[in-house]
Amino acid sequence: MCGIVGYLGQKEAYPILIKGLHRLEYRGYDSAGIALINGGLNVYKRKGKVAELEAFVKGKDISGPIGIAHTRWATHGEPTDENAHPHMSQSKELSLIHNGIIENYDVLRNELINRGYTFNSHTDTEVLVYLIEDIQKNEGVELSEAVRIALNQVIGAYAIVILSKNDPDTLIAAKKGSPLVIGIGEDEFFIASDATPIVEYTKEVVYLNDEEMAVIRRNNDLRIKTIKNQDKTPYIQTLEMNLSQLEKGGFEHFMLKEIYEQPRSIMDSMRGRLNAKKGIVSLGGIIDYEQKMVAANRIIIIACGTSWHAGLVGEYLFEDLARTPVEVEYASEFRYRNPVIYENDVVIAISQSGETADTLAAIELARSKGATILGICNVVGSSIARATDAGSYTHAGPEIGVASTKAFTAQVTVLTLMALRIAQLKGTLSKSRFQQILFELESIPEKVEKTLKVSKRVITIAEEFCQVRNFLYLGRGYNFPVALEGALKLKEISYIHAEGYPAAEMKHGPIALIDEEMPVVFIAPLKGVYEKVISNIQEVKARRGKVIAIVTEGDHAVSEMADYTIEIPETEEMLVPLLATIPLQKLSYHIALMRGCNVDQPRNLAKSVTVE
Ligand code: M6R
Repeated sequence: MCGIVGYLGQKEAYPILIKGLHRLEYRGYDSAGIALINGGLNVYKRKGKVAELEAFVKGKDISGPIGIAHTRWATHGEPTDENAHPHMSQSKELSLIHNGIIENYDVLRNELINRGYTFNSHTDTEVLVYLIEDIQKNEGVELSEAVRIALNQVIGAYAIVILSKNDPDTLIAAKKGSPLVIGIGEDEFFIASDATPIVEYTKEVVYLNDEEMAVIRRNNDLRIKTIKNQDKTPYIQTLEMNLSQLEKGGFEHFMLKEIYEQPRSIMDSMRGRLNAKKGIVSLGGIIDYEQKMVAANRIIIIACGTSWHAGLVGEYLFEDLARTPVEVEYASEFRYRNPVIYENDVVIAISQSGETADTLAAIELARSKGATILGICNVVGSSIARATDAGSYTHAGPEIGVASTKAFTAQVTVLTLMALRIAQLKGTLSKSRFQQILFELESIPEKVEKTLKVSKRVITIAEEFCQVRNFLYLGRGYNFPVALEGALKLKEISYIHAEGYPAAEMKHGPIALIDEEMPVVFIAPLKGVYEKVISNIQEVKARRGKVIAIVTEGDHAVSEMADYTIEIPETEEMLVPLLATIPLQKLSYHIALMRGCNVDQPRNLAKSVTVE
């Protein structure tokens, strides 16, 4: 999604802004632009990557201690130079960058056209900057007041930063729905969509809340008010992130680095929460809500994409271990289908970024019906983390690769801890069984480390299948969500069509696709319905499909039938997703690489989806 960076201080803004745009590249974008004031207002923008913008500005005036910069992920209008941000007002005095969607932009645009304005782009953003200028001129108010009045007229989501040629000492920012964070340095301010462009300069930040605007002036002058004109005291927080987490650390891609970080990220997600010897599972963030979870008639999990897949694993966990009924909902469907929610339902929202617009809207809906809402987020201080009643962070560290990897296993880890804690409180597991699972959970980081060593095998399989057009992923029970996640990973980064199914569903339709060209990935550990999965494998072999199987070390039956096998260490059935996912992530990575795809920034995708 769009990325925003702003700077106001004593230094040259350009290098800070460009570096900031590079840091935000992981969010996904298709054009980039920058506006700087040094006497005049200079705006440069280009379709394509930030590097193309850098080449374009060579030899041009890029000086000035104040500026804004933007990466655009197209919503209204194609990715072109004209539609790129920043957008200027009609008089060319104001310049604005925006993340979000102004839903009533068409009405506002027509009104402005009737008043004699002509537009240069197809964006909703240009409408907003024209509207602000129109209000400023017609009502004779200061820029910040014009911004406030304009924001009361728009419907939709926005994070904006605006600067004026006539006031080179001021930046105005505002947000609703889309994220915005302000970094406070020594005589300087930074603004960004998330903390990644800020962390190398300062750890002191203020997250703007919805419908808040900030007026930032030189000499450490930061004022925050709501768009209804109520003053707010800035709440300054300290970032936990550090710079090394944002760099590749010797790996070729962020995705690969993040795959290899999983022993640590799983460990960090359990740190201080699990003590198998003493039989303790404790999640500090939800301690006050444990009794609500115990008493809940139902848990509803809302999420999107990979987080939704983690939610599906959560369904098996809570039902199996704690005997609590669970429904897992796509946040985008839940928010619009008038769901039945009772006051004693507990809703768990799962999100890596904590900024997904559909998940946020689903939370608001659940809240309006009186449900208790817990969050499982990775990004500390994110909108979803703040919108929930309580929650547990995943502590996976920043995930930069667009394809989610370590966030998924961290989410599954936290869900496992939650389900175990509720099971303990409800007494649905015997003490010895409970402790047995805890010991096994403690050993998972080590087993993930071992699983990561399957590279050679995975590369051989990737070489064999990197040119196929379709893939099928099949699993049962806890491994059905793993099949879905494996298929999503492959299609996201390699653009090969892949589908995940519960293995037994194959005969109800997908079996028609099987021929000698179709690779079928089975997640077939020696647990649960192993025998049944063997029958499903036979059905594929009978139709000459190619079988790639994820099996438990020492497996014979599946290994004899499969064309290729990848072994994972033995573990408890409910913990298999934490291991089986790893080779599937690596398979997608190597196939994508062999196909020459951009692994970290796949086409059309955004890391945090802050629009509907
Ligand atoms: O930040 P979130 O977890 O809320 O994001 C949800 C999805 O957009 C995300 O998981 C997406 O599916 C990833 N690209 C998956 O790799």
